[in-house]
Amino acid sequence: MKFIPVKGTRDFYPEAMRMRNWIADAWRAASLRNGFEEYDSPIFEYLDLFTAKSGDEIASQLFNFTDRGGRNLAIRPEITPSLARMVNAKINALPRPIKWFSIPRLCRAENPQKGRLREFFQWNVDIIGPQDELADAECVLTAVDAMRQLGLTSSDVQVHYSSRELLSEVLESLGITDQGAGEVMAVLDKRNKLPADKFDAMLSDAVGGSDAIAGILRFLDAGSIDASASPEEIAADAGINAGEKALGAIAKLQAFGGYLDAFGIADWCRYDTGIVRGLAYYTGIVYEIMDAGESLRAIAGGGRYDNLLEVLGGPGVAASGFGMGDVVLGILLEEKQLVGDLADRVDLFVVDDSPELFSEVINLVGRLRSIGLAAEFSYKRQNVGKQLKQADRRGARKAIILRNDGAFIKDMASGEQTACVLDELLSDPASVLGR
Ligand code: HAM
Repeated sequence: MKFIPVKGTRDFYPEAMRMRNWIADAWRAASLRNGFEEYDSPIFEYLDLFTAKSGDEIASQLFNFTDRGGRNLAIRPEITPSLARMVNAKINALPRPIKWFSIPRLCRAENPQKGRLREFFQWNVDIIGPQDELADAECVLTAVDAMRQLGLTSSDVQVHYSSRELLSEVLESLGITDQGAGEVMAVLDKRNKLPADKFDAMLSDAVGGSDAIAGILRFLDAGSIDASASPEEIAADAGINAGEKALGAIAKLQAFGGYLDAFGIADWCRYDTGIVRGLAYYTGIVYEIMDAGESLRAIAGGGRYDNLLEVLGGPGVAASGFGMGDVVLGILLEEKQLVGDLADRVDLFVVDDSPELFSEVINLVGRLRSIGLAAEFSYKRQNVGKQLKQADRRGARKAIILRNDGAFIKDMASGEQTACVLDELLSDPASVLGR
């Protein structure tokens, strides 16, 4: 019998694990630089938490089960509902703004394809409290910060943003409200993922009247949000029936653009009415991060979700954030050849030149490790040349060679070998290792 991994899952052999850690380290470092604290939640929750407000798409992708006590549970497909649950439980004790991040392992029963798996890691960055576009912009800054650390530039990736609030105002002005609006948004979210004729057919099914379709397409094709124009002028340009809420949504987009500019990341971002987001809980600014060629699925997605905490039984507290997956990001980093040499390096590889010195080798390795150095040795008693080859394969910087006439240190890169006083190495390693 042969056991294989389940479709859509990955084994992380050491090389893949190094890549995963390299990405997660950048996420964690950027989170801390930008003032976020780490949290985590259970890997499974009550099913209802995820069906309450995430939307039909995610609900249809749940891995759910009934436990022995008859409870309906699901493996988390995203962490945002768990975050809302956790914050709701301690809302009065938590100083605001709540700036939290997490790197959960998530599962979605998707059809596995390039960039989409059934199990993946997703960096989440959220700010709870401020109903201010500054918080949306700070989340985007944090995403850009991590991507910069990984070597990406604004020519490689772009944050495409729009306003779910403005879109729902546009739909309302065309007579599309409530559930109808939700259905139309779900179709619009698929615009870039579907062939044009299929998209048109689905849109006309969801919308009904042709006037409304023309209005939607006019809005989608409208250009930019000019910082210097008035909301009224922008609305007129996009054919938007300029009610107070629509004008307010345009002003928020302008404020958001101003903050991106002030943070120095305006060149990483662009207004794009095509961004709708598949999840049902977004209420304001929304965004997706795409590769510049737009040949891959989204690297990240997020936005403002001011009602979710309340829908999940808490007070009406505003929130905004994003999730960035490791799968598409990894593909892009490899395509751009940004993954450097991630091999683990040991500081020292201890070698003997005759088997009777082996007990000294392991004694020295023990002492080197006790002072915090990464030290390795060979399990096989073999000649010095073979042990040094092994040292090389392990990426050792230096080898210590124990001989009957004393100890020697060899620089693996230059090949230079000098006598080594072991007491000195153990009491002041930096002076011997040159670091
Ligand atoms: P989402 O758009 O469902 O948002 O996922 C965000 C990102 O997670 C995607 O852009 C993608 O990189 C990654 N992702 C999603 N599904 C998969 C998959 N099956 N395989 C690989 N990667 C995937 C959310 O999950 C929101 N909860 C994000 C959020 C946080 N909004 C506010 N705060």
